[in-house]
Amino acid sequence: MPTIAPKILITGRDGQLGQALCRTLSPLGPLTAWGRQEADFLKPSALENKLSDLKPTVIVNAAAWTKVDLAQCRPNEARLVNADSPVAISAWARDHEAFFIHYSTDYVFDGSKASPYTELDSPNPLNLYGQTKLEGDLGILNNLAQGYVFRTSWVFSPLGASFPKTILRLAKSQAQLTVNDDQTGAPTSADFLAALTALAIRDHLQDRPHPHGLYNLSCSGQTTWLGYATYLLHSAKLQGLALPQAPTLLLPAYGPDPDRPAKRPLNSLLDTTKIQLELNITCPPWQSEVDKFLTYLQKVDPQLKYFSS
Ligand SMILES: NC(=O)c1ccc[n+]([C@@H]2O[C@H](COP(=O)([O-])OP(=O)(O)OC[C@H]3O[C@@H](n4cnc5c(N)ncnc54)[C@H](OP(=O)(O)O)[C@@H]3O)[C@@H](O)[C@H]2O)c1
Repeated sequence: MPTIAPKILITGRDGQLGQALCRTLSPLGPLTAWGRQEADFLKPSALENKLSDLKPTVIVNAAAWTKVDLAQCRPNEARLVNADSPVAISAWARDHEAFFIHYSTDYVFDGSKASPYTELDSPNPLNLYGQTKLEGDLGILNNLAQGYVFRTSWVFSPLGASFPKTILRLAKSQAQLTVNDDQTGAPTSADFLAALTALAIRDHLQDRPHPHGLYNLSCSGQTTWLGYATYLLHSAKLQGLALPQAPTLLLPAYGPDPDRPAKRPLNSLLDTTKIQLELNITCPPWQSEVDKFLTYLQKVDPQLKYFSS
Protein backbone atom coordinates (compact mmCIF):
# COMPACT_ATOMS: atom_id res chain seq x y z
CA MET A 1 0.00 0.00 0.00
CA PRO A 2 1.53 3.38 -0.94
CA THR A 3 2.21 5.64 2.02
CA ILE A 4 1.40 9.34 2.05
CA ALA A 5 4.57 11.45 2.32
CA PRO A 6 4.82 12.87 5.82
CA LYS A 7 5.44 16.52 6.51
CA ILE A 8 8.28 16.36 9.00
CA LEU A 9 9.27 19.09 11.45
CA ILE A 10 12.54 18.93 13.42
CA THR A 11 12.99 21.38 16.28
CA GLY A 12 16.42 21.98 17.82
CA ARG A 13 17.98 21.89 14.34
CA ASP A 14 21.40 23.20 15.37
CA GLY A 15 22.18 20.86 18.29
CA GLN A 16 24.10 17.56 18.16
CA LEU A 17 20.99 15.47 17.67
CA GLY A 18 19.16 18.06 15.58
CA GLN A 19 21.93 18.05 12.99
CA ALA A 20 22.03 14.25 12.86
CA LEU A 21 18.23 14.16 12.47
CA CYS A 22 18.29 16.66 9.61
CA ARG A 23 20.64 14.40 7.63
CA THR A 24 19.00 11.10 8.52
CA LEU A 25 15.33 12.03 8.19
CA SER A 26 15.55 14.01 4.95
CA PRO A 27 14.96 10.93 2.70
CA LEU A 28 11.65 10.26 4.49
CA GLY A 29 9.77 13.25 3.09
CA PRO A 30 9.55 17.04 2.98
CA LEU A 31 11.39 18.34 6.00
CA THR A 32 11.32 21.65 7.85
CA ALA A 33 13.91 22.31 10.55
CA TRP A 34 13.50 25.04 13.12
CA GLY A 35 16.31 26.51 15.16
CA ARG A 36 16.06 29.02 17.96
CA GLN A 37 15.38 31.85 15.45
CA GLU A 38 12.33 30.15 13.93
CA ALA A 39 10.88 28.87 17.23
CA ASP A 40 12.10 30.19 20.55
CA PHE A 41 11.28 27.65 23.26
CA LEU A 42 11.46 30.43 25.86
CA LYS A 43 8.07 31.47 24.40
CA PRO A 44 5.90 28.35 24.51
CA SER A 45 2.68 30.26 23.81
CA ALA A 46 3.94 31.27 20.35
CA LEU A 47 4.45 27.68 19.22
CA GLU A 48 0.83 26.74 18.62
CA ASN A 49 0.29 29.30 15.86
CA LYS A 50 3.56 28.38 14.19
CA LEU A 51 2.61 24.70 14.20
CA SER A 52 -0.86 25.47 12.88
CA ASP A 53 0.70 27.46 10.03
CA LEU A 54 3.05 24.61 9.08
CA LYS A 55 0.75 21.63 9.86
CA PRO A 56 3.44 18.96 10.28
CA THR A 57 2.33 15.33 10.44
CA VAL A 58 5.53 14.18 12.18
CA ILE A 59 7.30 16.31 14.82
CA VAL A 60 10.71 15.42 16.24
CA ASN A 61 11.87 17.63 19.10
CA ALA A 62 15.63 17.78 19.69
CA ALA A 63 15.59 21.23 21.32
CA ALA A 64 16.52 21.27 25.01
CA TRP A 65 18.21 23.35 27.67
CA THR A 66 21.25 21.04 28.10
CA LYS A 67 23.47 23.39 30.13
CA VAL A 68 23.21 21.26 33.25
CA ASP A 69 25.07 23.55 35.66
CA LEU A 70 23.51 26.77 34.36
CA ALA A 71 20.04 25.30 34.91
CA GLN A 72 20.72 25.42 38.66
CA CYS A 73 20.60 29.23 38.63
CA ARG A 74 18.16 29.66 35.71
CA PRO A 75 15.44 27.11 36.45
CA ASN A 76 12.62 29.16 34.95
CA GLU A 77 14.27 29.33 31.55
CA ALA A 78 15.28 25.66 31.71
CA ARG A 79 11.67 24.77 32.54
CA LEU A 80 10.28 26.78 29.61
CA VAL A 81 12.63 24.99 27.19
CA ASN A 82 12.59 21.48 28.69
CA ALA A 83 9.02 21.23 29.89
CA ASP A 84 6.56 23.98 28.90
CA SER A 85 7.43 24.16 25.20
CA PRO A 86 7.70 20.41 24.50
CA VAL A 87 4.45 19.83 26.42
CA ALA A 88 2.74 22.54 24.33
CA ILE A 89 4.00 20.81 21.17
CA SER A 90 2.71 17.45 22.40
CA ALA A 91 -0.72 18.99 23.04
CA TRP A 92 -0.77 20.37 19.48
CA ALA A 93 0.33 16.96 18.15
CA ARG A 94 -2.46 15.21 20.07
CA ASP A 95 -5.09 17.66 18.82
CA HIS A 96 -3.90 17.43 15.20
CA GLU A 97 -3.09 13.71 15.06
CA ALA A 98 0.61 14.29 14.46
CA PHE A 99 3.23 11.70 15.40
CA PHE A 100 5.57 13.15 18.07
CA ILE A 101 9.07 12.06 19.12
CA HIS A 102 10.91 13.65 22.05
CA TYR A 103 14.12 12.81 23.95
CA SER A 104 14.68 12.49 27.65
CA THR A 105 17.69 11.88 29.84
CA ASP A 106 19.35 9.54 32.35
CA TYR A 107 19.53 12.62 34.61
CA VAL A 108 15.92 12.05 35.67
CA PHE A 109 17.34 9.34 37.97
CA ASP A 110 19.37 9.76 41.15
CA GLY A 111 21.83 7.03 40.13
CA SER A 112 21.52 5.05 43.35
CA LYS A 113 20.27 1.86 41.65
CA ALA A 114 22.86 -0.92 41.37
CA SER A 115 21.68 -2.06 37.91
CA PRO A 116 20.48 -0.29 34.70
CA TYR A 117 17.28 1.75 34.99
CA THR A 118 14.15 0.46 33.27
CA GLU A 119 11.20 2.48 32.03
CA LEU A 120 9.31 1.44 35.19
CA ASP A 121 11.86 2.79 37.69
CA SER A 122 10.85 5.89 39.65
CA PRO A 123 12.73 9.06 38.67
CA ASN A 124 14.31 11.21 41.36
CA PRO A 125 16.42 13.91 39.70
CA LEU A 126 19.42 15.32 41.55
CA ASN A 127 19.53 18.60 39.62
CA LEU A 128 17.26 21.14 37.94
CA TYR A 129 18.11 20.04 34.41
CA GLY A 130 16.88 16.54 35.33
CA GLN A 131 13.88 17.97 37.17
CA THR A 132 12.76 20.12 34.21
CA LYS A 133 13.33 17.26 31.75
CA LEU A 134 11.22 15.01 33.98
CA GLU A 135 8.42 17.58 34.08
CA GLY A 136 8.56 17.59 30.27
CA ASP A 137 8.41 13.79 30.10
CA LEU A 138 5.39 13.58 32.39
CA GLY A 139 3.45 16.29 30.55
CA ILE A 140 4.25 14.80 27.15
CA LEU A 141 3.40 11.22 28.17
CA ASN A 142 0.09 12.53 29.47
CA ASN A 143 -0.70 14.06 26.06
CA LEU A 144 0.92 11.49 23.81
CA ALA A 145 -1.48 9.68 21.50
CA GLN A 146 1.08 8.55 18.90
CA GLY A 147 4.83 8.70 19.31
CA TYR A 148 7.65 8.16 21.77
CA VAL A 149 9.79 9.68 24.45
CA PHE A 150 13.25 8.17 23.94
CA ARG A 151 15.29 8.36 27.16
CA THR A 152 19.00 8.41 26.38
CA SER A 153 22.43 9.10 27.92
CA TRP A 154 25.84 10.68 27.30
CA VAL A 155 25.07 11.89 23.74
CA PHE A 156 27.99 12.68 21.42
CA SER A 157 28.47 13.72 17.81
CA PRO A 158 31.19 15.24 15.63
CA LEU A 159 28.76 18.15 15.07
CA GLY A 160 28.10 20.29 18.14
CA ALA A 161 29.72 20.29 21.56
CA SER A 162 30.47 16.93 23.17
CA PHE A 163 32.80 15.15 25.61
CA PRO A 164 34.98 13.39 23.00
CA LYS A 165 35.51 16.64 21.10
CA THR A 166 36.53 18.39 24.33
CA ILE A 167 38.98 15.59 25.19
CA LEU A 168 40.55 15.69 21.72
CA ARG A 169 40.87 19.47 21.88
CA LEU A 170 42.50 19.39 25.32
CA ALA A 171 44.73 16.47 24.34
CA LYS A 172 46.29 18.61 21.63
CA SER A 173 47.73 21.06 24.11
CA GLN A 174 47.82 19.49 27.59
CA ALA A 175 50.12 16.79 28.93
CA GLN A 176 47.70 15.93 31.73
CA LEU A 177 43.91 15.75 31.79
CA THR A 178 41.68 15.29 34.79
CA VAL A 179 38.72 12.96 34.18
CA ASN A 180 36.20 11.43 36.65
CA ASP A 181 35.83 7.71 37.15
CA ASP A 182 32.95 7.80 39.63
CA GLN A 183 30.05 7.88 37.14
CA THR A 184 28.97 4.96 34.97
CA GLY A 185 27.04 5.26 31.74
CA ALA A 186 26.79 4.37 28.07
CA PRO A 187 27.99 6.96 25.54
CA THR A 188 25.38 7.17 22.77
CA SER A 189 25.93 8.67 19.35
CA ALA A 190 23.51 11.19 17.90
CA ASP A 191 23.74 9.20 14.63
CA PHE A 192 22.43 6.06 16.33
CA LEU A 193 19.57 8.02 17.91
CA ALA A 194 18.73 9.57 14.54
CA ALA A 195 18.80 6.18 12.77
CA LEU A 196 16.43 4.69 15.36
CA THR A 197 14.18 7.72 15.09
CA ALA A 198 14.02 7.18 11.30
CA LEU A 199 13.15 3.51 11.85
CA ALA A 200 10.38 4.42 14.27
CA ILE A 201 8.95 6.97 11.83
CA ARG A 202 9.10 4.47 8.94
CA ASP A 203 7.25 1.85 11.00
CA HIS A 204 4.62 4.45 11.85
CA LEU A 205 4.20 5.51 8.21
CA GLN A 206 4.03 1.92 7.01
CA ASP A 207 1.31 1.13 9.51
CA ARG A 208 3.50 -1.02 11.75
CA PRO A 209 2.74 0.77 14.99
CA HIS A 210 4.42 0.05 18.31
CA PRO A 211 2.88 0.95 21.68
CA HIS A 212 3.36 4.65 22.20
CA GLY A 213 5.15 5.98 25.28
CA LEU A 214 8.51 5.88 27.01
CA TYR A 215 11.48 3.83 25.74
CA ASN A 216 15.07 3.76 26.94
CA LEU A 217 17.45 4.12 23.99
CA SER A 218 21.23 4.07 24.39
CA CYS A 219 24.26 2.25 23.07
CA SER A 220 25.13 -1.01 24.81
CA GLY A 221 27.97 -1.58 27.26
CA GLN A 222 29.14 0.65 30.05
CA THR A 223 32.08 2.79 31.02
CA THR A 224 33.16 5.73 33.14
CA TRP A 225 34.20 9.13 31.77
CA LEU A 226 37.79 8.01 32.39
CA GLY A 227 37.26 4.73 30.50
CA TYR A 228 35.61 6.69 27.69
CA ALA A 229 38.52 9.15 27.41
CA THR A 230 41.07 6.31 27.55
CA TYR A 231 39.32 4.40 24.73
CA LEU A 232 38.89 7.56 22.67
CA LEU A 233 42.55 8.62 22.85
CA HIS A 234 43.83 5.11 22.18
CA SER A 235 41.52 4.65 19.17
CA ALA A 236 42.30 8.13 17.84
CA LYS A 237 45.97 7.19 17.71
CA LEU A 238 45.15 3.86 16.02
CA GLN A 239 43.09 5.69 13.40
CA GLY A 240 46.01 8.02 12.66
CA LEU A 241 44.57 11.26 13.98
CA ALA A 242 47.25 13.85 14.62
CA LEU A 243 47.56 13.84 18.39
CA PRO A 244 50.80 14.54 20.25
CA GLN A 245 51.92 12.10 22.93
CA ALA A 246 48.74 10.89 24.66
CA PRO A 247 48.15 12.95 27.82
CA THR A 248 48.29 11.32 31.23
CA LEU A 249 44.78 10.92 32.57
CA LEU A 250 44.42 11.88 36.22
CA LEU A 251 41.58 11.48 38.69
CA PRO A 252 40.17 14.67 40.22
CA ALA A 253 40.01 15.45 43.90
CA TYR A 254 36.37 14.48 44.34
CA GLY A 255 34.27 16.93 46.30
CA PRO A 256 32.23 20.10 45.81
CA ASP A 257 33.20 21.98 42.65
CA PRO A 258 31.96 25.60 42.40
CA ASP A 259 32.12 25.37 38.59
CA ARG A 260 29.83 22.32 38.57
CA PRO A 261 27.02 23.08 41.06
CA ALA A 262 24.67 20.41 39.65
CA LYS A 263 24.96 16.93 41.15
CA ARG A 264 25.20 14.06 38.65
CA PRO A 265 23.87 10.50 39.03
CA LEU A 266 26.61 7.92 39.66
CA ASN A 267 24.72 5.29 37.66
CA SER A 268 23.36 6.49 34.29
CA LEU A 269 22.85 3.07 32.74
CA LEU A 270 19.55 2.47 30.94
CA ASP A 271 18.06 -0.96 30.32
CA THR A 272 17.15 -1.05 26.61
CA THR A 273 15.42 -4.45 26.54
CA LYS A 274 12.01 -2.91 25.80
CA ILE A 275 13.01 -1.07 22.62
CA GLN A 276 15.24 -3.89 21.38
CA LEU A 277 12.34 -6.33 21.55
CA GLU A 278 9.68 -3.94 20.28
CA LEU A 279 11.60 -2.56 17.28
CA ASN A 280 13.58 -5.77 16.72
CA ILE A 281 16.93 -4.01 16.91
CA THR A 282 20.27 -4.52 18.62
CA CYS A 283 21.81 -1.48 20.27
CA PRO A 284 25.45 -1.16 19.12
CA PRO A 285 28.33 -1.15 21.61
CA TRP A 286 29.35 2.39 22.52
CA GLN A 287 32.92 1.68 21.36
CA SER A 288 31.81 1.01 17.76
CA GLU A 289 29.99 4.36 17.69
CA VAL A 290 33.11 6.11 19.02
CA ASP A 291 35.11 4.39 16.26
CA LYS A 292 32.66 5.74 13.65
CA PHE A 293 32.99 9.22 15.16
CA LEU A 294 36.79 8.97 14.81
CA THR A 295 36.54 7.59 11.26
CA TYR A 296 34.47 10.63 10.35
CA LEU A 297 37.08 12.97 11.89
CA GLN A 298 39.83 11.07 10.07
CA LYS A 299 38.07 11.89 6.79
CA VAL A 300 37.22 15.53 7.42
CA ASP A 301 39.99 16.76 9.75
CA PRO A 302 42.82 14.23 10.24
CA GLN A 303 45.17 16.92 11.53
CA LEU A 304 42.52 18.01 14.07
CA LYS A 305 42.99 21.59 12.85
CA TYR A 306 39.58 22.54 14.18
CA PHE A 307 40.48 21.25 17.63
CA SER A 308 42.89 23.94 18.71
CA SER A 309 42.22 25.55 22.07
N1 LIG B 1 23.92 15.83 25.46
C1 LIG B 1 23.74 14.79 26.27
O1 LIG B 1 24.71 14.22 26.81
C2 LIG B 1 22.36 14.24 26.52
C3 LIG B 1 22.21 13.17 27.41
C4 LIG B 1 20.93 12.65 27.63
C5 LIG B 1 19.83 13.20 26.97
N2 LIG B 1 20.01 14.24 26.13
C6 LIG B 1 18.83 14.79 25.47
O2 LIG B 1 18.99 14.60 24.06
C7 LIG B 1 18.36 15.66 23.36
C8 LIG B 1 19.34 16.28 22.36
O3 LIG B 1 20.44 16.79 23.08
P1 LIG B 1 21.72 17.39 22.33
O4 LIG B 1 22.90 16.74 22.94
O5 LIG B 1 21.52 17.36 20.86
O6 LIG B 1 21.65 18.88 22.87
P2 LIG B 1 22.35 20.21 22.27
O7 LIG B 1 23.45 19.84 21.34
O8 LIG B 1 22.63 21.08 23.43
O9 LIG B 1 21.18 20.83 21.40
C9 LIG B 1 20.07 21.43 22.01
C10 LIG B 1 19.45 22.39 21.01
O10 LIG B 1 18.36 23.03 21.68
C11 LIG B 1 18.36 24.36 21.26
N3 LIG B 1 17.73 25.30 22.20
C12 LIG B 1 18.17 25.63 23.45
N4 LIG B 1 17.40 26.63 23.93
C13 LIG B 1 16.47 26.91 22.97
C14 LIG B 1 15.43 27.85 22.87
N5 LIG B 1 15.15 28.72 23.82
N6 LIG B 1 14.66 27.83 21.75
C15 LIG B 1 14.92 26.98 20.75
N7 LIG B 1 15.93 26.08 20.75
C16 LIG B 1 16.69 26.06 21.87
C17 LIG B 1 19.82 24.75 21.12
O11 LIG B 1 19.88 25.87 20.27
P3 LIG B 1 21.24 26.67 19.97
O12 LIG B 1 22.00 25.76 19.05
O13 LIG B 1 20.75 27.91 19.31
O14 LIG B 1 21.89 26.88 21.29
C18 LIG B 1 20.41 23.48 20.53
O15 LIG B 1 20.42 23.53 19.12
C19 LIG B 1 17.84 16.63 24.43
O16 LIG B 1 16.50 16.34 24.70
C20 LIG B 1 18.67 16.29 25.65
O17 LIG B 1 18.01 16.61 26.86
C21 LIG B 1 21.24 14.76 25.87
